[in-house]
Amino acid sequence: MKNVIYLETTTSTNRDAFEYAVQGAEHGTAVIADTQLNGRGRLGKTWRSPAGKGMYCSIILRPKVEPQNYPLLTFVAGLAVADAIEKLYGLSAGLKWPNDIYFKGRKCGGILTESSDLNGIEESRFAIVGIGLNVNTELNDFHPELHETATSLYLESDVILDVKTVFLEIRQELIKQVKSFEKTGFLPVINRWRTRDFLYGSRLAWVSVGGRKVEGVSLGPDDEGRLHVEDDSGKIHEVMSGDIRLCK
Ligand code: BTN
Repeated sequence: MKNVIYLETTTSTNRDAFEYAVQGAEHGTAVIADTQLNGRGRLGKTWRSPAGKGMYCSIILRPKVEPQNYPLLTFVAGLAVADAIEKLYGLSAGLKWPNDIYFKGRKCGGILTESSDLNGIEESRFAIVGIGLNVNTELNDFHPELHETATSLYLESDVILDVKTVFLEIRQELIKQVKSFEKTGFLPVINRWRTRDFLYGSRLAWVSVGGRKVEGVSLGPDDEGRLHVEDDSGKIHEVMSGDIRLCK
């Protein structure tokens, strides 16, 4: 298919997509690999990428929105992935702020959005939406430390699907939803996102910018996508980034 680069092995599809984008690759161009040697997760983590089991792809976007709104593409992408899963499997995925795909408290996928220098001229700006999704992964394919916390579309549905079929549906859904984000703005996106917010009302812990561990109850994201959490003293914290954990 036009504008899709299929690779057997690579270091990281986000890295590849970044290079293609710098060379001028157009909106919607995607890189997908069977396996990655150094798949990148959020906050400097590694994304384990066993061959043939998961979907590892990165999609280049050149959205017609203000550059300060590029980070909001993470929410658009989360919805696109969840909607594509619903179409293909009839499963209703939950979203964990800002960018994880969940089923019944277990992580099934994650999104890493990276941008070019957004101060540059409009033509040179782009975002890379990197998506890692556990598609046909069986429990034994996960590292033992993930056995209690990870899942896959196969484990949730008992259905095995071709990874490329899953990828093509997600890519099509993402391009469609970016178009409506350009037209109607972020409010319809975040309103729809809230209907899948599986953390809403749950007790969370996170590390503040100052390095302090804070606990509180999730009030969900505000209209700009910042997560609001109320601590035990009633103070509302706005969380911009970081690792959010559910308290047991
Ligand atoms: C996370 O949950 O931390 C985000 C994980 C994103 C992983 C995907 S796999 C395809 C793409 N290439 C990468 O190196 N990372 C993303």
